Amino acid sequence: MKLLAPSILAGDWWNIGEQIEATIRGGADLLHYDVMDGHFVPNITAGYEILSQIRKRVSLPIDAHLMIENPDKYIPKFVEAGANWISVHIENNPHIHRTIQLIKELGAKAGVVVNPGTSLSLIEEILHYVDYVLLMSVNPGFSGQKFIERSLERLRTLKEMRDAINPECLIEIDGGIKESNIKEVVLAGADVVVVGSGIFSAKDIEAQTRKLKNLMLEAVSV
Ligand code: DX5
Ligand code: ZN
Repeated sequence: MKLLAPSILAGDWWNIGEQIEATIRGGADLLHYDVMDGHFVPNITAGYEILSQIRKRVSLPIDAHLMIENPDKYIPKFVEAGANWISVHIENNPHIHRTIQLIKELGAKAGVVVNPGTSLSLIEEILHYVDYVLLMSVNPGFSGQKFIERSLERLRTLKEMRDAINPECLIEIDGGIKESNIKEVVLAGADVVVVGSGIFSAKDIEAQTRKLKNLMLEAVSV
């Protein structure tokens, strides 16, 4: 399964409804929704109330990437607002098992997120329990950053770990992915690819989404 997830944070929020619809026409599989609190990461974005407005108008799954302190406090609100996938970082969570169970009990898919500077060995245990691992290929906080090349090697390592420990688990990659490297990340093991500026900076968002989705499918058809 190869899924494309536009990161709507990178969109033009004056026209976000139209832009989301364009990505859906272009073949988007889920919407990636970045939540930042100004503490865990040096930026602030939108919360669960705005997510619920999107939910009312869109039937695609919404993938909420929580870059926040105290995620357990807010997870029920995000599920209630309509998030279908929820991911939380390993770096600020000594009770990751509890958090992952909470997300699952509430009926959402549960993911763990790993920053570029975090050893993959830290997620070895929780890999048994998650529905997906989100590998960051930039430091979280902003869209439009450059892809960290070592992420390809990390993807390959993570794929080996996933195949051995939990073959059902999906691997998602997030940060700096564009036309120029989307095939490479799929070939290295990504099942779900998040693209922000690589979609929303295009003039024709629908065509750009379709182009990226086709590149992902081409990568696996050879
Ligand atoms: C970064 C976010 C990403 C980001 C992706 O903290 O988690 O989802 O919006 O944007 P691009 O694809 O532009 O790097
Ligand atoms: Zn993200």
